Amino acid sequence: MNIIVTGGAGYIGSHTIIELIKNGHSVSVIDNLSNSSPVAIKRVESITGCSIPFYKTDIRNRESLESICSKNRFDACIHFAGLKAVGESVARPWEYYENNINGTLVLLDALRKNDCKNFIFSSSATVYGTPESVPITESSPKGTCTNPYGWTKWMIEQILTDMHTADPSWNVVLLRYFNPIGAHPSGLIGENPNGIPNNLMPYITQVAVGKLEKLHVFGNDYDTPDGTGVRDYIHVVDLARGHVNALKAIENNCGVETYNLGTGKGYSVMEIITAFEETNGIKIPYVIDPRRPGDIGTCYSSPSKALAELGWKAEYGIREMCRDSWNWQKNNPDGYV
Ligand code: NAD
Ligand code: UD1
Repeated sequence: MNIIVTGGAGYIGSHTIIELIKNGHSVSVIDNLSNSSPVAIKRVESITGCSIPFYKTDIRNRESLESICSKNRFDACIHFAGLKAVGESVARPWEYYENNINGTLVLLDALRKNDCKNFIFSSSATVYGTPESVPITESSPKGTCTNPYGWTKWMIEQILTDMHTADPSWNVVLLRYFNPIGAHPSGLIGENPNGIPNNLMPYITQVAVGKLEKLHVFGNDYDTPDGTGVRDYIHVVDLARGHVNALKAIENNCGVETYNLGTGKGYSVMEIITAFEETNGIKIPYVIDPRRPGDIGTCYSSPSKALAELGWKAEYGIREMCRDSWNWQKNNPDGYV
């Protein structure tokens, strides 16, 4: 298929392009580089040996989007572009709604005008809110989000569902990611957060590389075996492969389908620290801090729908996730420079 990938210079997008190319698809990328580097695309080119058409543009730029879509005959769009920092979204809600929702609306319009109605969307487990029970299945109800970032995912899912209701020639796959970590085993691409990381694994790797002094564990009084938060961490390469499988659903005219992409297994913060230390032979100093506002105790997926319908399951375990996160960080202590 001929695929347009928005946000393709970012963490998950760059890994996904590699898997798409490996599976015979052709890929073009749109990214405004607001949270990424063009070096990521260069490195993907060196990993794949393919040259990748890259459009440095904003998905809210209607003229540019229409021109790109009309010059190419895209079969499908994989839509990663968006702002994703939870705390920042609380401080700057207008910017998040404008970028993520308006951006998606402009993109959808340009696509439909050019008869590309196959769409894969990067959603998040955050749309489930506080789950009533775990593992979370796709039929678990959508919940109340605790921040504007989460609401943009919630609302874009609804917009896409309504688009399909009005025009059933759309095929839409909503992929709800759990907690992506890890990096490409080459160590050439990986997660490159701006400033102090908000998420657990990039914080740990920056402690390991000596950029941060110690990890702050947010709460040890949750109702979990060791009191620290439990999450479903998934290797980013497995997550990337999930998009290739989702294209099969699109090829079968799936209408609207939702899939969890996770491993189905939860690890606590303390288990992640131990796994990282044992895998990489590096001690991670930590202190216990109060709970982070908005956090939940336990969140992990049932990934069985993706296995049954897409033939996809995560292959990598927690040790590979820790190994590859560290391999990326130690080879690129300052990210893409
Ligand atoms: P990322 O920030 O690394 O990648 C997003 C990319 O989109 C960046 O390269 C950024 O420059 C680009 N972008 C943002 N706004 C844009 C715009 N208006 N026009 C063009 N490009 C724009 O993030 P990521 O971790 O790769 O996440 C990709 C997608 O997956 C996001 O939509 C994110 O919300 C979603 N997601 C991520 C996670 C996670 O933990 N990383 C979890 C669930 C869902
Ligand atoms: C975060 C986002 C969520 C997003 C998800 C996927 C928040 C509140 N939520 O979820 O919207 O979909 O990432 O990437 O940011 N932890 C620490 N110390 C740290 C960082 C984290 O103890 O410095 C703990 C957290 O309390 C949690 C676990 O580690 O128990 C994972 O945290 P994190 O990586 O931020 O992911 P989520 O909170 O699951």
